Amino acid sequence: MRTIVIEDRFAAWRAAALTALAEELPPASIQWRLAEATEGPQQQALIDDTADSQNAVAASSRRAEVHVSKEFAALLKDAASFRDPQRWAFLYKVLWRWHRGDRSAASPADIDGSRLYRMAKGVRRAQHDMIAYVRFRKQPGVQAVPEYVAWYEPDHDVLEWAAEHFAQRMGRSSWLITTPRGAAFWDGCELHLDARRALPGDHRYDSEDEAEALWIAYYRSTFNPARLNEDALEQHMPVRFWKGLPEAHWIPGMISEAKSGARRLAQASGVGTLNGKVISVEADAAQPAREPPSSLNACRRCELWRNATQAVGGAGPTSARIMLIGEQPGDQEDLSGQPFVGPAGQLLDVAIERAGLLRDRLYLTNAVKHFKWEPRGKRRLHKTPAQRETEACRYWLERELDTVRPAVIVALGATALATLLRRKVSLRDYVNAPFEINGGWAITTYHPSFALRQQDENSRDKVLDEITGALVRAREMADGC
Ligand code: URA
Repeated sequence: MRTIVIEDRFAAWRAAALTALAEELPPASIQWRLAEATEGPQQQALIDDTADSQNAVAASSRRAEVHVSKEFAALLKDAASFRDPQRWAFLYKVLWRWHRGDRSAASPADIDGSRLYRMAKGVRRAQHDMIAYVRFRKQPGVQAVPEYVAWYEPDHDVLEWAAEHFAQRMGRSSWLITTPRGAAFWDGCELHLDARRALPGDHRYDSEDEAEALWIAYYRSTFNPARLNEDALEQHMPVRFWKGLPEAHWIPGMISEAKSGARRLAQASGVGTLNGKVISVEADAAQPAREPPSSLNACRRCELWRNATQAVGGAGPTSARIMLIGEQPGDQEDLSGQPFVGPAGQLLDVAIERAGLLRDRLYLTNAVKHFKWEPRGKRRLHKTPAQRETEACRYWLERELDTVRPAVIVALGATALATLLRRKVSLRDYVNAPFEINGGWAITTYHPSFALRQQDENSRDKVLDEITGALVRAREMADGC
């Protein structure tokens, strides 16, 4: 067994991994250990536990030449920022497989490949979130250094990535971003990732800020209580980020004002005080409250709600031209409240991308909105919904169909198809055979979890190709409608 000690950084892992590949060290023979902060990069080494001396350092300058595709290289790099203590060992395993000619290691249909995609996706989301939700506050004093400070808690190790993003955009203004695991300081010319050394002193994040007051006034004035959509609000600005957002302090108050029935009055009281804008409203004209978004959650049309965490409604723009219908939320969907975010959803994302579609432009939903499962040890195993359950839940699907009125529906698997047709049919007879429904088109394909259930790579890739093909067809039909 070899122990490889590295700094907790992609570049350090990469160098050590290439050396280990050159020495043909199989993944199972390596233990990856992180250098203590004080050890520094010069300590990066291969330690051979089998050697006579426990400290025998076999740092080799030999490095394997590994040719990787651009996509695979980007996946490795992004996945490396995923917070998981096993990440370096896992990345080496994937690289080892690739180096030995096993390209399926980078396929989302492979068990390691799908984990790699999931990690990279989580990191990309965390990067996006960090850029969207960091809020800088101006420090008091003209000479203050840094001029701006921000506190943020990223989900993964994306500080360096985000710091480079801000460095390119904030010109010569100096700023500091602090996180629970380190800080980045931009002095106006150079980025310092070890901000403690570059910037001695305790930089807190509690200043009053004029720009922030202006931003809040603007934010409040753009809030339109008559168009309050709490679901959309939380989807676009998840509650876990609120603590870092100055405007979030005002959101609950604005929501409750809007819900109190004085919707237009509430808006008028805020906006009407602004110079140059007069809004006249009559209390009687106030809009009736829209149906509470929790009504799906309150559904008792069948018994499935009893064992589910929550109902999972559809997601996507109501103007979508294409609606994808799955079977029912899975374990991860049940916990997160969003459809298609678990392994099947990740595979579906690959098909969507390959088909040249954008997930954000599609409406994704399920025939049944509660997770049906049975316990198996500590796991919750998916159970196919019964006909009475799909029939009960059809009410919700019909409401979604009425609202979205998609040009093309893609039925993913037998449950979605049977729900649409209101009868059980053979999936095989319908796969890739478009039919007209509700004044639009429907096309049927396999459910992505069918691909995940395949025993070998080839069969998995075939099913994935089928799903991709159906999505391409849906796109063409939607374009032609
Ligand atoms: N399977 C589905 O059919 N829907 C989901 O949302 C997730 C898995």
